Amino acid sequence: MDLYDVMARRRDTRAEFTGRPPRAEVLERVLGAAHLAPSVGTSQPWVFVTVRDPDRLAAFRDHVETERQVFAASLDGERAETFARIKVEGILESGLGVVVGYDPTTAGEQVLGRHAIADAGLYSVCLAIQNLWLAATAEDLGVGWVSFYREEFLRDLVGFPAHVRPVAWLCVGEVAHLPAVPDLERFGWRDRGPLVVHEETYVPAGGA
Ligand SMILES: Cc1cc2nc3c(=O)[nH]c(=O)nc-3n(C[C@H](O)[C@H](O)[C@H](O)COP(=O)(O)O)c2cc1C
Repeated sequence: MDLYDVMARRRDTRAEFTGRPPRAEVLERVLGAAHLAPSVGTSQPWVFVTVRDPDRLAAFRDHVETERQVFAASLDGERAETFARIKVEGILESGLGVVVGYDPTTAGEQVLGRHAIADAGLYSVCLAIQNLWLAATAEDLGVGWVSFYREEFLRDLVGFPAHVRPVAWLCVGEVAHLPAVPDLERFGWRDRGPLVVHEETYVPAGGA
């Protein structure tokens, strides 16, 4: 598949998992792609934990459900009704969670390029996630990013030490198909907007 086609096909996946986890060699390729990502000072600050234990998956699903309800309680009227129709995770259905963490200590204190921007380490982890997501798409796998959780809960669940920050829970698995349209658009939560490029200086929406 052409890279641009993969980017266009990539979709956040929730309801389409078949319950079949990725084959071991495919998962290895996908995680290998994540590990090819660029990183500030070659710090490679990503940590991956694969979770398959049904009890651990269920514990995370229950926590996410609580957080889904917290968000739902903050909504009124049409927003509440629309959100109620949206599935926000496929944790049990996918059967595999890939937890991605950020470890700022992998390259020591002097990380080339991070002295002025501490977040550059976090950016690097997100690039690894995007590599993983695109490679999974090329392998016809689904990926669903779940962020309805408290970081302390996920840290404890997978045993990250205090200095490792949980960045994502990714549901990864075989899918019946990848939807053509993102769920948030399909259910009327929010549409994608057009590309906007500013020339020379930023112009606020509505004009200077
Ligand atoms: C940082 C991040 C966190 C996200 N968290 C969730 C989530 O908790 N639940 C969910 O259903 N989708 C989540 N998503 C997926 C987005 O809703 C999705 O990417 C967006 O609607 C666009 O759809 P697409 O990825 O299919 O193009 C997350 C995506 C990102 C990048």
